[in-house]
Amino acid sequence: MTKLWGGRFQKSAEQWVDEFGASIEFDQKLVMEDIDGSIAHVQMLGDCNILSTDDVDIILGGLVQLKQLAVEHKLEFSIANEDIHLNLEKMLIDLIGPVGGKLHTGRSRNDQIATDMHLYLKNRVEEIIELIQVFQKTIVNQAEDHIETLAPGYTHLQRAQPISFAHHLMAYFWMLERDKERFLDSMKRIDISPLGSGALAGTTFPIDRKLSADYLGFSNVYANSMDAVSDRDFIVEFLSNSSLLMTHLSRFAEEIILWSSSEFNFIELDDSFSTGSSIMPQKKNPDMAELIRGKTGRVFGNLMGLLTTLKGLPLAYNKDMQEDKEGMFDTVETIVGSLKIFEGMIRTMTVHTKRLHDTVHKDFSNATELADYLAAKGLPFREAHEVTGKLVFLCIQRGYFLLDLPLNDLQEANSLIEEDIYEVLSPLAAVRRRNSLGGTGFNQVEIQIEEAKKRLI
Ligand code: ARG
Repeated sequence: MTKLWGGRFQKSAEQWVDEFGASIEFDQKLVMEDIDGSIAHVQMLGDCNILSTDDVDIILGGLVQLKQLAVEHKLEFSIANEDIHLNLEKMLIDLIGPVGGKLHTGRSRNDQIATDMHLYLKNRVEEIIELIQVFQKTIVNQAEDHIETLAPGYTHLQRAQPISFAHHLMAYFWMLERDKERFLDSMKRIDISPLGSGALAGTTFPIDRKLSADYLGFSNVYANSMDAVSDRDFIVEFLSNSSLLMTHLSRFAEEIILWSSSEFNFIELDDSFSTGSSIMPQKKNPDMAELIRGKTGRVFGNLMGLLTTLKGLPLAYNKDMQEDKEGMFDTVETIVGSLKIFEGMIRTMTVHTKRLHDTVHKDFSNATELADYLAAKGLPFREAHEVTGKLVFLCIQRGYFLLDLPLNDLQEANSLIEEDIYEVLSPLAAVRRRNSLGGTGFNQVEIQIEEAKKRLI
């Protein structure tokens, strides 16, 4: 088959060479963006009197037909036509005749592909922002049900201080809030049109780049044609934002996995988000959470892959850049899938309120309360810490917890301790009293949830 660029060639490549160079297997995902880019381009060519109205009408008619065929999945792409741009151009010419060859006036595949990628990412990032928000709402709903659910808070995965379970859940809300802001901010750099930059240097035709950008709904145009066709920083940024998002999801997934183990037993995932074992009949596995944790690796890999692809490239376009696509598509599908699954998993999980409550009543996570109590009575905190540590040790030896110690043992350790200590040591009081801004005190958690709701547009 003759190539659309075949004029200066005396012989063609063998099929296996074509196969190596072709991107059609994956860039066909950009079929709508590519057709929309062509529609905007040819309209602009008409508006600028570069093509006659008749030619523009015929070409537009052909593009609209191609779009319809694309919707019906009736387009047949071929490797011989290398990529989405050449495939569609060839189909257009086959459909409407040689006038179709006028579409590529004042344009190159280099600005074409960059335009497609900007259009694609703009749509998908909007969708991702929306999905983050849906997930955030679900977190807020669960949190609202568990403001007064006591739970152990950890550091080093050792019991640290009692907290409101809602406070723990809301920590992820805020991580996602920053992820959402990062994606929103990146829109400024995605929402720019490279179209009309040509191969690298612009074009001799009197085109109007702002007009084609307007047709495509872009807010801005690249100021430098070489920059426009040769950078993929907007994709790197997307992959980086996605990596951070996946880091957050992965940490949350790790907790879900721990919490649903028999050892923790803090939550139970719904059957519809769990799987069984082919051999062990008792098993109910948190596969979805594990997969999200696992998929984080491929998103990081995609980021590293593109950074490495770009790092040594001279300006302007290089074929290396064809490698930007699969990682980007894969990342979009991975984070869209992970967000949807996570939302469903959290929406349907059962929180074992009693188990959480019992847990904080059988540990030393109220030890800080005793130290703070003594410090508030004037004992230097360092000494209060020492006295409390000794009492914890005494309890461990006797198989007690602090609340089980008789008053005389407590007073023997330090005479400042009085009867009111038992109230102070209760986990409920410990949480309630942590009323500093952003703390786990119930009032603060309520304020936080109100603040969070305002962020949901
Ligand atoms: N398939 C190419 C890519 O994905 C499109 C641009 C090709 N440009 C070129 N001069 N070979 O990057």
